[in-house]
Amino acid sequence: MQNDHEFSYSKTDFAKVVELIYQRAGIRLNESKEQMVYSRLARRLRALRINTFSGYLKSLENDPDSPEWQQFINALTTNLTSFFREAHHFEILASQMQSCASRPFRIWCAASSTGEEPYSLAMTAIEAYQMAQPPVEIIASDLDTHVLATAAQGVYTIDKLDKMDLERKRGFFLKGSQANAGKVRAKKALRDLIEFKQINLLDTRWPLEGRFDAIFCRNVMIYFDQPTQKVLLEKIGHLLKPDGLLYVGHSENLHYMSEWYRSFGKTTYRLTDRAKAAWSRT
Ligand SMILES: C[S@@+](CC[C@H](N)C(=O)[O-])C[C@H]1O[C@@H](n2cnc3c(N)ncnc32)[C@H](O)[C@@H]1O
Repeated sequence: MQNDHEFSYSKTDFAKVVELIYQRAGIRLNESKEQMVYSRLARRLRALRINTFSGYLKSLENDPDSPEWQQFINALTTNLTSFFREAHHFEILASQMQSCASRPFRIWCAASSTGEEPYSLAMTAIEAYQMAQPPVEIIASDLDTHVLATAAQGVYTIDKLDKMDLERKRGFFLKGSQANAGKVRAKKALRDLIEFKQINLLDTRWPLEGRFDAIFCRNVMIYFDQPTQKVLLEKIGHLLKPDGLLYVGHSENLHYMSEWYRSFGKTTYRLTDRAKAAWSRT
């Protein structure tokens, strides 16, 4: 318990948050996140006019279907992202699209946060096919409904485009004026290529059909423990076309899955022959 807190917050409360977010989202929070958890959830307590963390957590546990669960999850996810983050992946994707015979080229962006990643995929597609409406289908998903709503809007403060070259800024974004001064919006051509969905990577069934040429699952597995990552990677493998590519984040290494995935350059993976044989039967 700390005196400078507006709400009472004990080690037991923190341990309960750790347990609940792990159960619901697979996210592992370590002790260094104790203060972050306080400040993020204190906003929920204020909004709900609840005075104690233990009261808030009890009300969640007592109602497994409460809509507050989604707010709890939204408050605890980390959504850091940017346009063309880990730029080498977009170069690999462009050549994959150019050499791929299958149409449409299908991409699943599995932790799309506020949308910078799927819009970068859409820009890459338009450029690679040199068409305003390339034969590309992008499904972008996240567990957090708040970031999904931002992503679907496609509205960003102009500084988010700072590192983007002028041609892309002009070609793919509209500048806001008056009430929207200082903001940009992704053009309709980009937005039309993407379907946004809520998907919890922990769920046993995902609302997805067919297989994908490319799956971007970047900078989300770092929040999961290894058993959770293994289950996820096996499920993802079933959704990859035999020649499909899995793109992961810069600190995500699949060495412990070498039976199923082989490296195809920096943080990019293909299925092994064994995985193709096993998973083509399912
Ligand atoms: C750090 S962001 C990464 C965004 C983007 N992929 C990138 O690399 O820039 C991690 C995202 O994973 C999402 N996430 C966390 N747990 C998840 C889960 N169980 N299912 C789906 N998405 C999850 C978070 O909401 C967050 O938007």
